[in-house]
Amino acid sequence: MDGGEESFDKGRRNFLKIVMVASVGVAAIGMMKGGISEMIAPTLGLTSFPSLTIYDTTGKPLLYENLQVNSSSIVLFEYPLSGDPTFLINLGDTSGKPLDITVPPKPVSIELGTTYTYPTGVGPTGSQSVVAFSAICQHAGCVPPSIHYYPPGTPVPGYYSGSVNTVGLIHCSCHGSTYEPANGAAVKNGPTQNPLPGVFLKYDSSTHQLTAYKMTGPVIFGKPSDLTGGSPLSTPYTKISIIG
Ligand code: FES
Repeated sequence: MDGGEESFDKGRRNFLKIVMVASVGVAAIGMMKGGISEMIAPTLGLTSFPSLTIYDTTGKPLLYENLQVNSSSIVLFEYPLSGDPTFLINLGDTSGKPLDITVPPKPVSIELGTTYTYPTGVGPTGSQSVVAFSAICQHAGCVPPSIHYYPPGTPVPGYYSGSVNTVGLIHCSCHGSTYEPANGAAVKNGPTQNPLPGVFLKYDSSTHQLTAYKMTGPVIFGKPSDLTGGSPLSTPYTKISIIG
């Protein structure tokens, strides 16, 4: 297991410890009160999406121009809560030029017929190429490196026979689910029925910094809601980790 994956696993283990400690605390208080049935809910999660600037691995704000186009490494940040892995991808075309996905954002379908619109990519005018999606597969919850972004022109291991990766794909090697990040991470190939939840980004044209501030689409796999099932980050920013 490498450093990035290990840090997310550690985050989830820490979360489970917090839940266990909180549960024991609540039970103890209930016993002290002689079996009072009211439970005190642990103060975990958030009531609204945080606005978190994305930092690089050295602890400085990540600048757009330092995010490699078509990187074959997996770039992740935690959002909205600690231990929630999120892809950060600078999409490019087959020649490595940033893909401008300004218009039009397409509706992305969710299971049971709901649709939503993932916003455009972000970046300088003409290169609005940076997108972010939950990195937990919507089929059964596999995480990086099992789920991985493959830039256009690169082969996708195990992808259905005869397919050509011309657009850039996120593929999960656990059972084959495939998503199209230039199309809101819509489902390209099952067994998943749901797209990857999208994270809204802002690009600051004066500082070139990127900020995550909201989510759309289905709930992050395995969670009761995007804002529960975890603890807030301990920092006022979110830092990337890189796998591979
Ligand atoms: S968990 Fe990703 S395809 Fe099944």
